[in-house]
Amino acid sequence: MTVWYESPVGDIRGLDRCSLTVEKGMISCILGRNGAGKSTLFKTISGVIGDYDGKITGGCILFEGQKITSHNPAKILSLGIALAPEGRHVFHTLSVEDNLLLGAYGKRKGKNSRSLIRQEMQDIFALFPILGKRRRQKSGTLSGGEQQMLSIGRALMCRPKLLFLDEPFLGLAPVVIHEILKAFLMLKKKGVTIFFSGQNAMSVLSTADNCHVIDKGYIKTSCKSVEIMNSLDIKEIL
Ligand SMILES: Nc1ncnc2c1ncn2[C@@H]1O[C@H](COP(=O)(O)OP(=O)(O)OP(=O)(O)O)[C@@H](O)[C@H]1O
Ligand SMILES: [Mg+2]
Repeated sequence: MTVWYESPVGDIRGLDRCSLTVEKGMISCILGRNGAGKSTLFKTISGVIGDYDGKITGGCILFEGQKITSHNPAKILSLGIALAPEGRHVFHTLSVEDNLLLGAYGKRKGKNSRSLIRQEMQDIFALFPILGKRRRQKSGTLSGGEQQMLSIGRALMCRPKLLFLDEPFLGLAPVVIHEILKAFLMLKKKGVTIFFSGQNAMSVLSTADNCHVIDKGYIKTSCKSVEIMNSLDIKEIL
């Protein structure tokens, strides 16, 4: 994909012939410095770029063999692709439960929808028990780690096949990172494909199967995570 942003100082290339494949059923990550294009990539795939911000000027996105380039975000979500965005973006004045309910927005119609949503919520509380304990608490009062879990839980409410997480570990303590990684492995067992981004993700690489490195909007490496872990110096790669 190639993506341009308009800006007062001229056009900025967010993605530059960026090309990669996310393997089904696997955990993949994308590493890159600030401004490398990680969020632009996630926003492009989830339909935010194009309709609202930035311009796709080349390339295409395929999901399960179907072209999904420039579909709107609701359509992308209905195909089974969900994004937990950078910065979490939970609704601070709403309770944990209500934030989760919003994640199920597209699923509110139809037979059995109530019991399906309830089941979904129970599954998320099983994945992150602290959210169950705080279900009636306003999400603005949660810790950063709990808000990140809530953001992931909200994305999971629509039972995605492919879950994107933009910088899910930013600013989190090792113990919380460990808990989220444990959840990734549980989701992988259930068949969910996971793709997350990070800046220096050495501590989380061992949970990922595959790793891509992005620089100035261009994918400069795609390989097994273990290959990156065994390489001499992560700083040289990034
Ligand atoms: N709305 C926008 N308008 C103009 N330029 C933008 C816009 N969004 C992103 N950019 C530019 O596109 C490039 C890629 O940005 P992007 O946010 O994708 O990087 P990133 O890898 O997610 O960085 P970070 O690690 O800081 O989150 C940067 O040069 C950024 O300044
Ligand atoms: Mg970003």
